[in-house]
Amino acid sequence: MTSLKVNVSGLRLKNPSMVASGIMDETGDSMIKMMESGAGAVVTKSIGLEPKDGHGNPTLVELDYGYINAMGLPNPGIDAFGEEMEVAVRAGVTVIGSIFASCEGDFSLLAGRMEDMGAAAVELNLSCPHASGYGMEMGIDPVVVKAIVASVKDSVRVPVFAKLTPNTHRLMDIGNSVQEAGGDAVVAINTLKAMAISPESARPILRNRFGGLSGPAVKPVGVRAVFDLYSVLDIPIIGVGGITSWRDAVEYIMAGASAFQVGSAIGHKGVQVFGEICDGMLAFMRDYGYSSIHDMTGVAHE
Ligand SMILES: Cc1cc2nc3c(=O)[nH]c(=O)nc-3n(C[C@H](O)[C@H](O)[C@H](O)COP(=O)(O)O)c2cc1C
Repeated sequence: MTSLKVNVSGLRLKNPSMVASGIMDETGDSMIKMMESGAGAVVTKSIGLEPKDGHGNPTLVELDYGYINAMGLPNPGIDAFGEEMEVAVRAGVTVIGSIFASCEGDFSLLAGRMEDMGAAAVELNLSCPHASGYGMEMGIDPVVVKAIVASVKDSVRVPVFAKLTPNTHRLMDIGNSVQEAGGDAVVAINTLKAMAISPESARPILRNRFGGLSGPAVKPVGVRAVFDLYSVLDIPIIGVGGITSWRDAVEYIMAGASAFQVGSAIGHKGVQVFGEICDGMLAFMRDYGYSSIHDMTGVAHE
C-alpha cells in the first residue's frame, strides 16, 4: 500500500510535510491550526534566550516570485514561549523547536529547554542571513558548526537538526561537519541574502537594507543544495525553499530529501497547501509505483 508516513532520524510523522520556521508558528493556536490543516510537523519560529524585537519596518518586500524578509528574529524569548509550547504539545502537535544563539553554550541551554517543553526535535538556526551575530554568520564556518552541533548533541536526547544556509560555497563541508558532530539531519535551505531598491525613493526598501529571499525563486537553489548534500551525507536531509505544489515537493525528494518544509506558500495559498501537496504526491506515487517516500528519496541520482 502506498504510504506517506516517514521516519526522519527517529521522528515518526504521518506525512513528510512540515511548517518551515517563521511562518504561522508563533503561538500554540497557530501551531494547532497548521497541524489540523495537514502538516506532519510544525517547526517553531526561531527562539532565543531573551525577548527580541527584531528589525524596524518595513521587514517584508513582496515580489512576483517570493518574498524578501528581514524580520531580524523577533521572538518572545524561551521563557515566555513555554506557554505556547504547552498549548501545542498538549493538543498533540509534533513540534520541532527552532532555536538561535550566539555561542554553543546558549544553543545547548535552549535545546535543553525545548526538550523539557516537549519538543520532538530541535532545529538549530545556523542560517538566518539578516541578524547580526547569529544564524548565517556562524553557519558558514564548518568548525563553528561542528562545535555547536556536538555541544547540543551532548545536551539533549531528541533528534538534532541543523538548518543550513545556501549563502556559501562550502555547503558540503558544513553538511559534513553536522554529520561528524553527530547531528541527526540537515535542513536545507534558509533564505538567500537579497535586497530590493525603490527607484522612486532611491533607497533600499527594507529598513535593514538587505534580507532573505524565499518562495518560488529559490526552489532551484534549494533542490541543487539538497542534491549536493545527498551525494556526500548519510544522515537525512529535510528540503525547504520555494515549495508550493506536490511537484516541487517531489523534486526535493528525488534530489535526496526525506521530508520537506513549506513556508512562503502558506502566505500565498493558505493553510490548505499541506493537504493539496500531500494528496497530489500520493496520487503521483500511486501512478508511478512508489510505495513510500523512502522509495522515492534520491532517485534522481541513479
Ligand atoms: C517571514 C519569514 C520568517 C522566517 N523566519 C525564520 C526563522 O525564524 N527561522 C528560520 O530558521 N527560518 C526562517 N525563515 C526561513 C524559512 O523557514 C525557509 O527556510 C525559507 O523561507 C525558504 O522556504 P520557503 O520558500 O518555503 O519560504 C523565515 C522565512 C520567512 C519568509
